[in-house]
Amino acid sequence: MNLDQLVTTAAAMVKPGKGILAADESSGTIKKRFDTIGVESTPDNRRDYRELLFRSSEAMKNYISGVILYDETIRQLAADGTPLVKLIEQAGAIPGIKVDLGAKPLPFCPGETITEGLDGLRERLTEYHSLGAHFAKWRSVIDIGDGIPSGTAVKANAHVLARYAALCQEQNVVPIVEPEVLMDGAHDIDRCATVTEFVLKTVFQELYEQRVVLEGIVLKPNMVIAGKMSPQQASVDEVAEKTLMVLKRCVPSAVPGFAFLSGGQSDQEATAHLDAMNRIGGVPWKLTFSYGRALQAAPQKAWSGKPDNVADAQRAFTHRARMNSLASKGEWRSDLEERAT
Ligand code: 13P
Repeated sequence: MNLDQLVTTAAAMVKPGKGILAADESSGTIKKRFDTIGVESTPDNRRDYRELLFRSSEAMKNYISGVILYDETIRQLAADGTPLVKLIEQAGAIPGIKVDLGAKPLPFCPGETITEGLDGLRERLTEYHSLGAHFAKWRSVIDIGDGIPSGTAVKANAHVLARYAALCQEQNVVPIVEPEVLMDGAHDIDRCATVTEFVLKTVFQELYEQRVVLEGIVLKPNMVIAGKMSPQQASVDEVAEKTLMVLKRCVPSAVPGFAFLSGGQSDQEATAHLDAMNRIGGVPWKLTFSYGRALQAAPQKAWSGKPDNVADAQRAFTHRARMNSLASKGEWRSDLEERAT
């Protein structure tokens, strides 16, 4: 393990003013996204769409520190034969790779999942590193519901996350550690806070037991937020305050930074929440974004599979990337949204 290299990469991933583009939708997930815009999910359409994002030079150069890719994408060539990974590197961003193989039902824990993908991971990491990946992502999913999460599911997922993180560091790949507490359901913000605290405390205990070096990871947490179906939606300030409160209780200051997931929040909510946390400040970590939907919903809609719409889609992506870049410095203002293209 080259700790200096890991620390340098992790710091670059969470550099203020920049954040991560999560473009690592599995084939199943990107199909769902394409269905909503009436585009068939073929390898070429997936390539064309992702190529337009990676060729959005203003966004990529100024606002995006890294891109999380899917196995297909890290091997794919642009229409002119340039590897997509090269487009990302040429823009000065860091390529990364999703390495988990998805969440599967956890035995004897109805409604709960365990993320798979540890078998053969060392060899896959070696290959991905040779293809240009300097960081990886693994997502564990914790659902809130009647009687869940169970301690069994939280512990199992935390253990697997820590095993993954250790393997990444051994291969000089920075692990993004993503224990996502879902915002599906009708629970209130305080229940999310309680569950997120339990999950993060368990994850950091497991990271310690697996000897993961905290200076060389990036945490990808959910924000502490009410469930989507909750009648009591929290204000932007309450989300920011409670998210920071929980993170302060759980995460050692050795961790360089967090790259939050958007998790189904609207584009502007995800931006406003990140901005509010950075305005509060006073924390030892960098706070930035690693958004999938909250960065891509607008460009996907603008593109809708039509070559004539590429420039509009790139403008939409650049706008969202810029708004989130400002939020990563606590400099976003809602009136900037109205001037959107
Ligand atoms: P969302 O921002 O759409 O939640 O996606 C981020 C991600 O990478 C989830 O694993």
